[in-house]
Parts: sequence; C-alpha cells; structure tokens
Amino acid sequence: MDDPASDTTLDSDIEQVLISSEQIQARLQEIAAEVDRDYAGRQVLLVGVLKGAFVLMADLARYLRSPVEFDFMAVSSYGSATQTSGVVRILKDLDLDIAGRHVVLVEDIVDSGLTLNYLLRNLRARGPASLEILSLLVKPDMVRVELPVRYHGFTVPNVFVVGYGLDYAERYRNLPYVGTLKPEIYAHP
Ligand code: IMP
Repeated sequence: MDDPASDTTLDSDIEQVLISSEQIQARLQEIAAEVDRDYAGRQVLLVGVLKGAFVLMADLARYLRSPVEFDFMAVSSYGSATQTSGVVRILKDLDLDIAGRHVVLVEDIVDSGLTLNYLLRNLRARGPASLEILSLLVKPDMVRVELPVRYHGFTVPNVFVVGYGLDYAERYRNLPYVGTLKPEIYAHP
C-alpha cells in the first residue's frame, strides 16, 4: 500500500499513557454523581469549551441523571504551538442566555488558567445564578491564577499531554486515554 498513513496509528506516537481510559470513565461517573447530588432540584446548564471538551461532554452527559442542558463556546488560545499565549478569542459564543441560570463550565484542562480566567469574567458579567468550573485535568501551574475549580478529575504534571479531547496540531483528540507524545513527534510534525 502506498498510503503513508496506513502503517501508523496514533497510539504509536504516544510515549507514556498517564491516565487510562478506565480511570477516566470511573472518575467521570463519580463526578457525574457529585453534580447530580449538588444540583438536585435545580436545572443545570453545562457549557463545554470547544474543541477540547467535546469528548468529556459526551461521556459526562451519559453518566448524569439530572435534567441537564448543554451549550458550547469555542475559544482559541494555543493554535498549533504548545505554549499558551494568554490571548483568548471567542470564536463561537453561547446560543443560550445564561442570566439566572446555574452554569457549570466544562474544560478539558486548566494549565496556566488564563483561558478560564477570561471566560469566567466574561460569563459572570452575564448574570448567571451560579457559575462553577469542571475540568478533567489540572496542571500544577494553575496556581498562577486563583480559580475556583469545583470538580476536577486528575492532576497531571507540567508536561504537554494529548488525548481525550486534547490535541497537538489538531491530532490525537480521539485517543480514549491521556498521554505524552514521543519527542520526535515535535521534531517532525
Ligand atoms: P490555559 O489558558 O494555559 O489554562 O490553557 C488552556 C487551554 O490550553 C486548554 O483548554 C487546552 O486547549 C490547551 N492546553 C493546555 N495544556 C495543554 C496540554 O498539555 N495539551 C493540549 N492542550 C493543552
């Protein structure tokens, strides 16, 4: 076969699996149970931050038992590089008005916290009844910005990770686990 993509898989680019698919799913079930309990009797609006949160939102959605609604925002922060710029641009805004609503902002990862910090200020200005953060992953750098992360899955070291929604140059989002890339992947994108 001449197709250069046919003899490679995404898995072969991974150096180390940091969080397995099973660990992620088990933790999501616990978080969903917490959300169900915390918002019992109240209607929650989950706001996913695209693109990274689409996998997390889809899995979390099916573990929740309360009458949850969903909306999405798309922001740009990283481009194809692995360093945060601190500049956040809203590419797609919410469809729904969140005034008076109980909102949970769902992120894939909080690294420096700059993206969420910006989003929180932006969403608070719209007058929600409450606003909490749910992030699957948190990096220790987050302490640079004080963020009230109400629900979080795992702490990962200060390394670049891919999988479960997280990309490098738009690839690896569909891996069901979180891992690190082999160094040569950065050298030869
Ligand atoms: P922050 O503004 O530094 O907190 O970065 C937040 C965003 O950067 C996340 O929503 C991700 O899209 C991206 N990001 C941060 N760390 C990583 C990583 O290790 N792998 C892939 N994307 C990341």
